Amino acid sequence: MNFEFTEEQLAVKEAARDFAQTELLPGVIERDNKQEFPSDQIKKMGELGFMGMMVDPKYNGGGMDTISYVLAMEEISKIDASCSVAMSVNNSLVCWGLEKFGTEEQKQKYLTKLATGEIIGAFCLSEPEAGSDATMQRTTAEDKGDHYLLNGTKNWITNGNSASVYIVIAQTHPEKKHKGINAFIVEKGADGFVVGKKEDKLGIRGSDTHSLMFTDVKVPKENRIGDDGFGFSFAMKVLSGGRIGIASQALGIASGAYELALNYSKERKAFGKPISQHQAIQFKLADMATNIDAARLLCLQAATLKDQGKDFVKASAMAKLFASQTAMDTTVEAVQIHGGYGYVKEFHVERLMRDAKITQIYEGTSEIQKIVISREILK
Ligand code: CAA
Repeated sequence: MNFEFTEEQLAVKEAARDFAQTELLPGVIERDNKQEFPSDQIKKMGELGFMGMMVDPKYNGGGMDTISYVLAMEEISKIDASCSVAMSVNNSLVCWGLEKFGTEEQKQKYLTKLATGEIIGAFCLSEPEAGSDATMQRTTAEDKGDHYLLNGTKNWITNGNSASVYIVIAQTHPEKKHKGINAFIVEKGADGFVVGKKEDKLGIRGSDTHSLMFTDVKVPKENRIGDDGFGFSFAMKVLSGGRIGIASQALGIASGAYELALNYSKERKAFGKPISQHQAIQFKLADMATNIDAARLLCLQAATLKDQGKDFVKASAMAKLFASQTAMDTTVEAVQIHGGYGYVKEFHVERLMRDAKITQIYEGTSEIQKIVISREILK
């Protein structure tokens, strides 16, 4: 692994940092309070190339590597994890899934718009009874010749209302279990497709998380991704890439909280000196910095393997497992270093602490990452 970033990678990091500081920071507390989806901010992120970073330029993407994506995700997540989850789902799950496994027609029709952020996408796997146990899909897609008929409910869908294109995982041949599952592209506005209520969440409150209902929704056959029965494998492969995005989000939440705590500790005085001069605080800062560096290295390792076309299943699960734990631990300590100020919204660290928790839950809980890692070790 190369420990030196290229000039291009550093420029992407700098652009993401500038954007986050100037465009995301000013309204982030208000958006969190009001649970307001950052539509304008996402539009600008699209214009800057952050919504389809790794997509081939021939489909309007940025043609960047996964390392650049990790660096940009970290910077955006330091300030606004509601923006970065929309960015992660669009880049890793939707754009990458379509580019890698979609047909040329699907790429021309959908990917070219998703890559610029003109529209955004959602990935619909979770159901009321199929979260961690993703094989238990109850949503059905009945083969009707030239189309499928989609019926069922999806839960916890990121970009649930703001998306225009949904990748929906459904069971076509129940007797074949996970080998009978398919992935479909469904457009917003299709007859029988209803966006359900918005979830009132602990964190990432600007992100719009919804349930979705499908009743006899006609999906043209050409909207199936891959061969018949490829859907479960598609979901697993795409989620492995997605975990690099969420690991980088967790890394950003942790490093954002750490930067705030470090600066605060140099300014705040107690017992006659800045609190950074007390060993109780120094030990916390040392733990935070060490864990953040380790999390960053795991993210970059997974990204490097992906860019080299090597297997990154274990590496992405390790990155997500460790970075999400680091996000949780670091944000709790950042609040502690801030004392009472850490408990009020104005100082940002309480939001980062609330946002951190979801990184241990979505795109596979920490327990799921341990299943993935141990299977890879033992196989
Ligand atoms: N890549 C390719 N194929 C894979 C794979 C991978 N990473 N992991 C599993 N598979 C294949 C297996 O090879 C197997 O195929 P065969 O039968 O042909 O051999 C098949 O999938 C079934 O695998 P398992 O027997 O291992 O399946 P399992 O049921 O025991 O468990 C699991 C698999 C890893 C636990 C999986 O269910 C899983 O990852 N669950 C978590 C799902 C998840 O992350 N949900 C998050 C929702 S999406 C989200 O949060 C997005 C958002 O909005 C932010």
